[in-house]
Amino acid sequence: MKGPTSYSFYILILSLVLASTVTSHYHECPHDKLPTKKFLIRTHLEGSTDKATKNVGGDDGFNQPIRINIHYNFSIFGVLTEDKQEQVKTIMGQVKENLESILTVRRTPSPLRLRRACDGDNPFILTGPTEPCFNRCSNNSAICSFFPVPSDHLQRCVECNGDRSNCVEAYSDGPGLEDTDLALYVYGVSLFCGASTIAYASSCQLEDQYDRPIAGIINFCPSNIDDDEEVFQVAKHEIFHVLGFSSSLYPWYRDENGNPRTRRDANGNPPTDANGDYVADESTVKMVNLTDWQTRFGPTNKTVTQLVTPKVVEVGRRHFNCNTLEGVQLEDQGGGGTAGSHWEKRLLNYEAMTGVISQNIAFSNFSYALLEDSGWYKVDYSNASILVWGRGDGCGYTAGSCGGYIDTKKRQNQPIAPFCNFFNDEFNPQNLSCNIDRTAVAFCNLVDNYYYYLDVSIPPEYQYFNSGANFNSSAFRLPFYGGIVHTADFCPFYFDLPFRQALEGICRKGIPLTDSNEAAETYGPRSRCVDHSGKWQITNGSNTYTAQYSAGCYEYQCSNSVVTIMIFGQSYTCSRAGQVIQVDQTADGVRYRGGIVCPSCVEICYDDFENCPEAAELYGEFASPAPPTDSVGSLLPMVGLLFVAIFASFAVNY
Ligand SMILES: *[C@@H]1O[C@H](CO)[C@@H](O)[C@H](O)[C@H]1NC(C)=O
Ligand SMILES: *[C@@H]1O[C@H](CO)[C@@H](O)[C@H](O)[C@H]1NC(C)=O
Ligand SMILES: *[C@@H]1O[C@H](CO)[C@@H](O)[C@H](O)[C@H]1NC(C)=O
Ligand SMILES: *[C@@H]1O[C@H](CO)[C@@H](O)[C@H](O)[C@H]1NC(C)=O
Ligand SMILES: *[C@@H]1O[C@H](CO)[C@@H](O)[C@H](O)[C@H]1NC(C)=O
Ligand SMILES: *[C@@H]1O[C@H](CO)[C@@H](O)[C@H](O)[C@H]1NC(C)=O
Ligand SMILES: *[C@@H]1O[C@H](CO)[C@@H](O)[C@H](O)[C@H]1NC(C)=O
Ligand SMILES: *[C@@H]1O[C@H](CO)[C@@H](O)[C@H](O)[C@H]1NC(C)=O
Ligand SMILES: *[C@@H]1O[C@H](CO)[C@@H](O)[C@H](O)[C@H]1NC(C)=O
Ligand SMILES: [Zn+2]
Repeated sequence: MKGPTSYSFYILILSLVLASTVTSHYHECPHDKLPTKKFLIRTHLEGSTDKATKNVGGDDGFNQPIRINIHYNFSIFGVLTEDKQEQVKTIMGQVKENLESILTVRRTPSPLRLRRACDGDNPFILTGPTEPCFNRCSNNSAICSFFPVPSDHLQRCVECNGDRSNCVEAYSDGPGLEDTDLALYVYGVSLFCGASTIAYASSCQLEDQYDRPIAGIINFCPSNIDDDEEVFQVAKHEIFHVLGFSSSLYPWYRDENGNPRTRRDANGNPPTDANGDYVADESTVKMVNLTDWQTRFGPTNKTVTQLVTPKVVEVGRRHFNCNTLEGVQLEDQGGGGTAGSHWEKRLLNYEAMTGVISQNIAFSNFSYALLEDSGWYKVDYSNASILVWGRGDGCGYTAGSCGGYIDTKKRQNQPIAPFCNFFNDEFNPQNLSCNIDRTAVAFCNLVDNYYYYLDVSIPPEYQYFNSGANFNSSAFRLPFYGGIVHTADFCPFYFDLPFRQALEGICRKGIPLTDSNEAAETYGPRSRCVDHSGKWQITNGSNTYTAQYSAGCYEYQCSNSVVTIMIFGQSYTCSRAGQVIQVDQTADGVRYRGGIVCPSCVEICYDDFENCPEAAELYGEFASPAPPTDSVGSLLPMVGLLFVAIFASFAVNY
């Protein structure tokens, strides 16, 4: 009887936690707030001991493109309209197809049957190898993170006396699931849905040979299902949690030979922490002190949690151009020092596996590498998207705060991208620019959080600015200046326009920034963002005025590394990056006058390797990190992280 009591108790707590999160138009993933950590059940699969599959380490064992078996149950507390049910089914079908073409596993014996719990089992406790029930087998179907699973999918269950006598089979094997490596149960209820939650997911059973997740749930929040593409990206993100990107799964990861990465006890379980949660060894997840974390009060120490598995480190070293990188930081906000289930947003920003998903989303090599490092999958990296954010920004970028990075770059007269430090009124942002991958017109989200978060100042370790243009520098107000995105450590960067229609400013599929299209923009799949050199003059009949914004979405093209921008059908060909080209054209009786700033081909055609060989060099298959540009860089491999941090501000990569 204890089970059901603690179950409702947790639901209550969780509802309170989720109710207090900030409302926004982007998806905030609640994975780390779900009380599912101890829901994992290890399941022994019949047939998994046969010699053909047993203990086959290395790559040989990976013989099966993953087969995802999806079951929808929209009838419990049914709140998804039929239209939305169809939308979810279509999108889940696409995600399944996508993942099945990317991931290979060790074939799961067929049919797959999940484990049934015993009555009175505390559903929050992870059980060991399958044991008979010493009271009764649960007559309910297995509960997969609060959700029911059809009893047809379950294993037999045996009931015994406490001394293991008088065992009887209370339930026989259900038919199970043929040809299935992962069973996914899909629901559409409002339970645990925050104001901006589109979906959430969790795995619930692991097979006990390699501990790979074999079952999970994904729930779609009825009131937040809207744009198809967004729902696709969120669904894929959530299934990545089921597959392996979860703090509750790190302790179960396997190495490339199929051996546990974290030491196990006699029952095959990893060690636990004071809360009874399983914890991964330092060879998987490692806490590190960054000793040169610059704030507006000076340097301080900050402890971060890093994923240090081999592929992830390899991708990180290459991406950041930091040969001494020890690991890739995990999101620490909202989880109080424990390992999180997302990449640190300050570092990877719009990578799809960060905790807040907004306009531009990239499933990059980082997240695919993590799945491979779980030891459960071989991954085809060819579907990885290019991540422009942070590329080549060096060890100083990863080892310190954005405040320190901005200061260092300014001292060297270098651009402070991917960050920005222009103070904006978020209710009426005037100074727009392109975001880092030019997928949208964006605003620098350095704001006075005083208005935005009412009275809650930024934690001191994330306060970076003592002054700035248009700041109110009263001592009372300085603690409020910072980026609008908490999970990005309050670092300011060019970001989705706030308080707009969701698609405004998104070049690929959005709409112009002003109703009158003052910037002569064109939106569509061939468009990206280009900055103006200042504000344009518009002459409309007898009326001449200054345009409000100074960036826009335009069609573009690269050929032999030469960039061409098209404005209302007229081509402007760039001869070098940074060149200002004058625009003076008339369309439909409106005259547009001003300048556009030429991007380099790498900046705008980073994914067009054929027409921009420089991009292939940076992001392509044979890309390798640029050699260190100074002697500090080449000394770094010999010294520890402490030195990396101390020298970080000098080890710059040009
Ligand atoms: C959905 O779940 C309910 C409650 O467990 C169950 O009665 C029903 O049969 C399920 N439907 C499907 C299609 O699995
Ligand atoms: C399941 O067992 C409980 C007692 O453990 C009983 O009250 C309930 O009626 C049973 N339900 C079914 C469907 O057999
Ligand atoms: C980080 O610093 C804290 C306090 O300064 C210390 O207790 C902890 O052991 C350090 N951790 C590591 C991994 O060095
Ligand atoms: C940061 O950590 C280093 C090494 O552990 C220590 O010497 C230093 O005093 C710490 N600095 C602060 C500001 O706590
Ligand atoms: C990855 O696959 C999806 C689904 O097929 C596709 O929409 C997307 O464009 C692909 N991305 C890349 C970078 O290949
Ligand atoms: C920002 O916008 C204001 C108002 O339009 C303008 O006066 C100012 O020059 C702009 N600043 C920058 C740095 O673009
Ligand atoms: C600056 O902030 C202080 C404290 O909120 C306020 O009293 C003062 O009026 C502000 N100054 C300006 C110029 O807005
Ligand atoms: C030009 O004026 C017309 C008529 O007032 C208006 O509909 C249109 O939006 C204006 N265009 C621009 C770019 O100002
Ligand atoms: C991703 O990694 C693969 C394999 O290492 C590499 O071929 C590919 O170029 C990388 N893609 C990007 C976008 O970095
Ligand atoms: Zn998530």
